[in-house]
Amino acid sequence: MANGGDRRHLISLDDLTDGALRDIVARGAEIARRSGDPAGTAGATLAGAVVGIYFRRTSTRTRTAFTSGALRLGAGVISYGPGDLQLNTGESSEDTGRVLAGMLDVLVARTADDPAEMRTWATQHRMAVVNAMSADEHPTQALADLTTLTLRFGSVDGLRVLYLGEGNNTAAALARGLSRYPGVRLELRTPPGYGLTPEVHHRAATTAARGAVVHERHDLAELPRDVDVVYTTRWQTTGTSKPDADWRAVFAPFQVTSELMAVAPKAVFMHDLPAHRGEEVTAEVLDGPAAIAFDQAENKMYSAMAVLEWCRGSY
Ligand code: CP
Repeated sequence: MANGGDRRHLISLDDLTDGALRDIVARGAEIARRSGDPAGTAGATLAGAVVGIYFRRTSTRTRTAFTSGALRLGAGVISYGPGDLQLNTGESSEDTGRVLAGMLDVLVARTADDPAEMRTWATQHRMAVVNAMSADEHPTQALADLTTLTLRFGSVDGLRVLYLGEGNNTAAALARGLSRYPGVRLELRTPPGYGLTPEVHHRAATTAARGAVVHERHDLAELPRDVDVVYTTRWQTTGTSKPDADWRAVFAPFQVTSELMAVAPKAVFMHDLPAHRGEEVTAEVLDGPAAIAFDQAENKMYSAMAVLEWCRGSY
């Protein structure tokens, strides 16, 4: 874990022990369950803290989840857009991190770039650094997804998940997160040339819980039946572009349709959103009875609150 002092950094799910991962997911689910309580969801556990929200890329859910979550926990918030910091005029990452660490308690950042920059900001322990999406991983998405699965199924242990689409930063975080739960089977079907990196497979295998499996194919033969979850993401991942002009033809067979969902009639459908109906998923599925994508989106806020509390050492 990349923590020290009383601040904990979350750049990758690999930064979390199994215990910390489970604690954050359990706390997010607890806050979600209490969300209807008029007495409040979690109390002012961040009173007096200041959270910086620095998003260099577009975001609807993650930015709002951390901002609203921080405010609900009693923290103050400073928000920076892509053009606001002197990083744009050549100030170094090292100096930026050093300065912000003297003024902020937590920095939540979406760069969509190499996570090395966030690691630079996290070389101190006065200010916690949270990765709200880098090029290689979207760890807070996976934490929200694990929270959603906990709320839906009672436990993540033993779940069977079918993921279709690009092996992007959300898929990488899912593989790193789901594989930490005993008996989970994550089957990925990714277009040729758009799979998970060997490093993600290696890490998932290295940290896998007993009986957990991450398995990937680049075709739709032998689709697993009786899965609990079908999951997809937008084909045009935020901050990225595809090298080949004909990528849509390669992705088209991986669309989630009612016919595909019929293979697993009891499965719920998950999507990290934003969605493009008619691309990665049909409107019939996304707006249909099996979809829990909008619950999943709301759970991002409860999960963000749990992350912020963990960063501050509240549990
Ligand atoms: N799923 C997700 O990260 O959504 P935003 O890009 O809107 O934050």
